[in-house]
Amino acid sequence: MQLKNIKRLELPATADMHVHLRQGDMAKLIAPTVRQGGVDTAFVMPNLVPPLITVAQVLEYQKQLMAITHGVKFLMSLFLHPSITPEVIAQAAEAGITGVKMYPQGATTNSDSGVSNLESFYDTFSAMEKHGLVLNLHGEVLESLAPSGTTLEEAFLPTLKTLHERFPDLRIVLEHCTTAAAVEAVRACGPTVGATITAHHLYLTSNEACCDPFAFCKPIPKEPTDRDALVRAVTSGDPKFFFGSDSAPHPLQSKTSASKGKAPAGVYTQPYVTQLVLVALEEAIERGVIMEADVTQDKLEGFLSRFGRTFYRLPESPENRIILERKEEKIPVSVVSEKGDIEVGISKAGTEVFSLTWEQV
Ligand code: DOR
Ligand code: ZN
Repeated sequence: MQLKNIKRLELPATADMHVHLRQGDMAKLIAPTVRQGGVDTAFVMPNLVPPLITVAQVLEYQKQLMAITHGVKFLMSLFLHPSITPEVIAQAAEAGITGVKMYPQGATTNSDSGVSNLESFYDTFSAMEKHGLVLNLHGEVLESLAPSGTTLEEAFLPTLKTLHERFPDLRIVLEHCTTAAAVEAVRACGPTVGATITAHHLYLTSNEACCDPFAFCKPIPKEPTDRDALVRAVTSGDPKFFFGSDSAPHPLQSKTSASKGKAPAGVYTQPYVTQLVLVALEEAIERGVIMEADVTQDKLEGFLSRFGRTFYRLPESPENRIILERKEEKIPVSVVSEKGDIEVGISKAGTEVFSLTWEQV
């Protein structure tokens, strides 16, 4: 496929296996942008205020999201916390909750009640293994625990291996992986271990993340070699790697008014997630990291839609399809709420992208 010369693409709807949709008025602005990006299935993160630590809270949140927007299947998660006992896992499985997200305490946005000692959750993981819930890992160690000369993600990888060895039937996702070492570590594990890759980690590096608040996120984008290893994982056709945008909206003002290095972490890509993956692949072809022939219809479908669904045991092909056409559309600077009181900056504003429509059935 010569991506650069392609004027029209038809794909199955994208499955976005890692989204932040927030709550209240922010959720009302953000949740409808899921469909805009070509997504019909979204796995929703639980790092709200307060975090979602009961089955009832998760179900209430799902109801709110479904009231805001139609045409998206919201897969839900609990926030790993001492109150998530094996009994809660049994209830969660019964209620159709998909996964449990582990945040190291204080590692990122709204993670103050996160985990400080993973071993204390082994009974919970055992119950998750038994009931078929997925363990979703924010795979970073705390800065205070990181040996020098290695990234927070690389320092976490031995923990991934330990968890997999201890719970071989537990499905584990290393979320938003960002390093060549993480790609290798996930490959080295059995088929119960997968990883999400975002759109933005396919085009950002530490050079932008250090200095542009709209490129700042956790895990921080790394070296060009890491970015390129992620691109190769995407076009490898390996079903262990599937799309999860980690689109994470923050009020524009909180990004622009923060002093240097203090902006909240999160890159907002949701309204253009599918297109931004294509932009990143085009850029990688231009850099010579991959060849035109490495991007095929089958590989795009696999990464964007099929592999995530398969890992999560959903039907492989969605009922919905999307059409992408080149019409000189450019990514706008932001999305703004109806009242004008909430604005969120979009990543890569000004970039020309495919225009996306949903196929009528
Ligand atoms: O950059 C990030 N933003 N990384 C995360 O892990 C959380 C997210 C958020 O919720 O803002
Ligand atoms: Zn996230």
